[in-house]
Amino acid sequence: MTIDTIPGTVPGLLSARDPGWTEWVDVIVVGSGIAGLTAALRLRGQVERVAVVTKDVLNAGSTQWAQGGIAAALGPEDTPEQHEADTLVAGAGACDPDAVRVLVTEGPAAVQELIDWGANFDKDPDGNLSLTREGGHHRDRIAHAHGDATGAEIQRALVEAVRRAPYAHAGGERSDRGRILVFEHAMVVDLVTAADGGVAGLTIHVMGEGDGDGVGLVRARAVVLASGGLGQVFSQTTNPSVSTADGMAIALRAGAELRDLEFVQFHPTVMWLGPDSRGQQPLISEAVRGEGAFLVDWEGDRFMQGLHELADLAPRDVVSKAIMRRMLDASAGGERSDRRHMGRPHMWLDARHLGRAFWERRFPTILASCRAHGIDPVTDLIPVAPACHYASGGVRTDLWGRSSVPGLYATGEVACSGVHGANRLASNSLLEGLVFSRRIAEVLPAELRPLAEPEWHGGSVGLVPGGVRAELQEVMTSRAGVLRNAEGLAEALERLGKLAEQRAETIDPAAWETTNLLTVSLALAEAALAREETRGSHWRDDFPDRDDERFAGHVDTTMADGATTLRWSEP
Ligand code: SIN
Repeated sequence: MTIDTIPGTVPGLLSARDPGWTEWVDVIVVGSGIAGLTAALRLRGQVERVAVVTKDVLNAGSTQWAQGGIAAALGPEDTPEQHEADTLVAGAGACDPDAVRVLVTEGPAAVQELIDWGANFDKDPDGNLSLTREGGHHRDRIAHAHGDATGAEIQRALVEAVRRAPYAHAGGERSDRGRILVFEHAMVVDLVTAADGGVAGLTIHVMGEGDGDGVGLVRARAVVLASGGLGQVFSQTTNPSVSTADGMAIALRAGAELRDLEFVQFHPTVMWLGPDSRGQQPLISEAVRGEGAFLVDWEGDRFMQGLHELADLAPRDVVSKAIMRRMLDASAGGERSDRRHMGRPHMWLDARHLGRAFWERRFPTILASCRAHGIDPVTDLIPVAPACHYASGGVRTDLWGRSSVPGLYATGEVACSGVHGANRLASNSLLEGLVFSRRIAEVLPAELRPLAEPEWHGGSVGLVPGGVRAELQEVMTSRAGVLRNAEGLAEALERLGKLAEQRAETIDPAAWETTNLLTVSLALAEAALAREETRGSHWRDDFPDRDDERFAGHVDTTMADGATTLRWSEP
């Protein structure tokens, strides 16, 4: 059922139709985190030419920032069924149960493969994997590395595995079977489709020096999007600066269906650095609460107690909402999720009782980050507030990572595989990337399309100026952030619409990224307006209850020549 069609407001294509150079591969993987590198490593050897394209260097994406760990039923007391039950509860009725079953049953073997590739997880004194607990989990099932540097360790192992493969740089020796061609500092501009609507390749801009400089066309028989999330849509996020929604935007422009964009997870305990702090903010892992830290308000009241059976370890949406309520209730004047309008700008995390030795051993990265900001968690309370952390929605995929565009696959945060529903369970994200990338590599080689001629879809070519990004982020944070209502979302859409009318004079990565952020922000705000209920991470103060009669299904978004259509899909 169509909910709404919004006439063309954003450009339908960003790249010029005359690329300066052309390359070809069988499969191009966009993104180099756990999802992208797993896909590339598993496809290598199965198809002739595999390439990875990444906007920065191979280890610059979100994966390396993951602190808590990777969840899987690995402990003797645990089962995939229990992991499944916790995932479904966190997802608040919006998960695809088949996708969740795949995640939890294939998860343990996938983590073992990661270990075989060289990832060193922490062990207990008996040599077994040391497992911890995070919000929403009823068992200790989070494997971690170097205490709180799990993502960095996984990324190290994967990058080394890629480098161990006979290896060729873009512009250098051609890749053969068994090699992975790597384009670093290369921004994907558009997904290029063929006459049948399926994939024909990508336009990319290789930044810096060398033969590959400028916008070029990489023709490909399949594209695997593994480009991460959209954190930079908001003013404060745990995501790195590269998380500018590029994968979702290029998929949307190419005709792919996006699902449940409104389900954006706000992590409850992000270090509060002051009202004017913008961009990537330091995360205080849920694992710190898993080890016994607790939240207090300005009066020292442990406000999570009695609110949920898991108290400080309740699912993330429950904790974020409780913090926000305290922030808003703390005094008059706080109406929205704009931190500058709060009664209290943050709450506190108390982890002093963990002690110096424990902090140094278990959370060395977080300890260093707190100290770098003048807080010693051994003696001080840590100021914390929710900030954007994870997109549970994204490019809709089936159980094998296939999108609605032939030849286009998606995996990891850019995808909506159905495992997260309305609220991702802690530490399920690394696992999702791992499991679904393995699945893509199982089916893709037999589904390779012939190399197709590009047809240059999309109509209007254009860009908004990079300079509108700060205003876009302010609008999204204050009107479409943690706490939403119809009035605020309508205002967000109007203000974003005005930004979309502006045209960039300079063609550069800032303008490409900002156009992507705007494209996805509009779709996200529209989806949030359409979902007139509160479910998981989507919190509407004008519709405070979950409404299974009207909203048990999904909001699907498509775009044609900049015009967006929202459809309602039954569960
Ligand atoms: C955390 O360590 O709290 C974040 C883990 C996650 O997002 O799953």
